[in-house]
Amino acid sequence: MKQNKLHFGAAILGLAAVLSLPVAASASDLTDKCDKCHGKNGVSEDDKVPSIAGFSKVTIEDTMLQYKSGDRPADDYKPKDGESDNMHEISEKLSEDDIKSVAAHYSKQKFVPREQSFDAALAKAGAKVHDKQCEKCHSDNGANAKDDAAILAGQWRGYLKRQFELIASGEREVPKKMAKKFEKLKDGDVEKLIEFYVGAQ
Ligand code: HEC
Ligand code: HEC
Repeated sequence: MKQNKLHFGAAILGLAAVLSLPVAASASDLTDKCDKCHGKNGVSEDDKVPSIAGFSKVTIEDTMLQYKSGDRPADDYKPKDGESDNMHEISEKLSEDDIKSVAAHYSKQKFVPREQSFDAALAKAGAKVHDKQCEKCHSDNGANAKDDAAILAGQWRGYLKRQFELIASGEREVPKKMAKKFEKLKDGDVEKLIEFYVGAQ
C-alpha cells in the first residue's frame, strides 16, 4: 500500500514537472536579467533596489505597465556585473505576456525582510502614524502582499527614501486616497514611517 502511494506521488510530481516546463523555460531568460539587479529570486541585496519576491501578481503587472507608459519615473541603475539600465527601458521591451509571466514568477517567490539597523524611538512613533493613516491599505504593518500595494515592511531604506521623495514631490503618482493621507502628514512623519517600515519584520 505504502509503495503504491509512493508511485502515485512520483507520477503526480512527474506530470507537474512536464506541465510546468514550457512556462518555466520561457520566463527564466527574462527573470535571470531581473535577478541581476533585484537579487536572486527577487530578494535584493542592494539598498537602492527593491525586493520584489512575494509581491502580488497584480502589483507587479500594474507597476510594470506604469513604468512602460512612463507614468512612474525610473532611475538608472548599474548592477555589479551588468549594464546600466532603468525600468522604463526594460518594461518597454516586454510584451504583455512577458509581463504576466515575470509577475507570476516573482509572486511565487518568498519575500525576505532585509535586516537593517533602525532608530527604535522613531519607529515606535512611526507605528502610530502608520496605524492612523496607512494600515487600512498597507495592512499587517505593510507586510500583506494581498493588499496589491507593494510590500513596505522589511524593504530597503534607500529605496523607500527615494520613493517617499518622488511621491511627496508628485513625480510619482499614487492613488488619490493615499495622496490625501500624505497631505495630512506632519513634519518628521515621513522619517518616522521609514524607520517603522525598515524595522517592521
Ligand atoms: C538594471 C537594473 C534592473 C533590472 C535589470 C530590472 N530592474 Fe526592476 N527596478 C530596478 C530599480 C533600481 C528599481 C527601483 C527604482 C525605480 O523605480 O527606478 C526597480 C523597481 C522595480 C519594481 C517596483 C517595485 C516596487 O516596490 O514598487 C518592479 C515590480 C520591478 N522593478 C520589476 C522588475 C522585473 C520584473 C524585471 C525584469 C523583467 C526588472 N525589474 C529588471 C532595477 C532593475
Ligand atoms: C487608499 C489606499 C492607500 C492608502 C490609505 C495608502 N496607500 Fe500607499 N499605496 C497604495 C497602493 C494601491 C499602492 C501601489 C500602487 C501605486 O503605486 O500606484 C501604494 C504604494 C505605496 C508606496 C510605494 C511602494 C513601492 O514599493 O512601490 C509607499 C512607499 C506607500 N504606498 C506608502 C504609504 C504610506 C506611508 C501611507 C500612509 C501615510 C499610505 N501609503 C497610504 C494604497 C494606499
